Order: sequence, then C-alpha cells, then structure tokens
Amino acid sequence: MRSVRRFIASALLVVGCAGKVPHPTSTQVGRARARWPDTTKESLENGRVLLIARCSGCHELYPPAAYPATEWPELVVDMTKRSKLSAAEAEALVRYLVSVTEPAAPAP
Ligand code: HEC
Repeated sequence: MRSVRRFIASALLVVGCAGKVPHPTSTQVGRARARWPDTTKESLENGRVLLIARCSGCHELYPPAAYPATEWPELVVDMTKRSKLSAAEAEALVRYLVSVTEPAAPAP
C-alpha cells in the first residue's frame, strides 16, 4: 500500500500542471452516475490517476480538454493496449475523461 502511494505521488509530480487534469466536480460525478450508476467520486479520481500515471510515458500527457467527450472512448480503446490497461482501468479512465469534458446540460 505504501509503495502504491509513493508511486502515485511521483506520478503527480511528473505532471506538475495538475490544473490541466482537473479533479471531477460533484456535478460531474452526478452526471457520470446518471449514465453509469456504479460510478463514485473515487472511481473517477482513480481514472484521473490512471491518466497521469499511464498515459504520459510515450508522449506528453494529453489533458482531458485536448479532445471532446465524444472522441475519448475511441482514443482510449486505441491506447489501452499500448498502456497495458485492464478492462476495468480503461473503463475508469473513459468515465473520468468523458465526465470532465462533457459540456454541461443546457439550461432548461
Ligand atoms: C507505449 C506508448 C504509449 C502509451 C503508454 C500511450 N500512448 Fe498515446 N500515443 C502513442 C503513440 C505512438 C501515438 C501517436 C501515433 C498514433 O496515434 O498511433 C499516440 C497518440 C495518442 C493520442 C493522439 C491520437 C490522435 O489521433 O491524435 C492521444 C489522445 C493519446 N495517444 C492518448 C493516450 C492515452 C489516453 C493513453 C493512456 C491510456 C496513452 N495515450 C498511452 C503511444 C502511447
């Protein structure tokens, strides 16, 4: 457990510009949960950590805002093999990327 935490801490240091990789807001968690009922704030945070830790080894990190929500699922499919993500990790990553990039619902 301690080594996991150290690993995450060093991954966060590498990114440095954490502002580009935002934490999910409670509104975004709510929207994600409407679509994927088993989503939690923790699972979205986990997706964020995966992005930082596993998606910046070969190229610079593409921040969530680099692509629209509609394109991320396919991009993650393309990159899943390269980054050796498990199916569950890929799912957490997609949920994170989609929920932080999806435009807010239009006002009623
Ligand atoms: C083993 C190396 C490697 C890892 C790990 C990796 N990528 Fe990539 N990625 C590449 C290469 C090489 C390219 C450019 C060539 C290509 O698109 O095939 C690329 C391109 C991309 C692009 C641009 C695609 C486009 O069409 O413009 C995105 C976005 C991307 N990667 C996201 C990710 C994400 C998200 C992860 C983590 C799940 C990830 N990458 C992990 C090697 C990697």
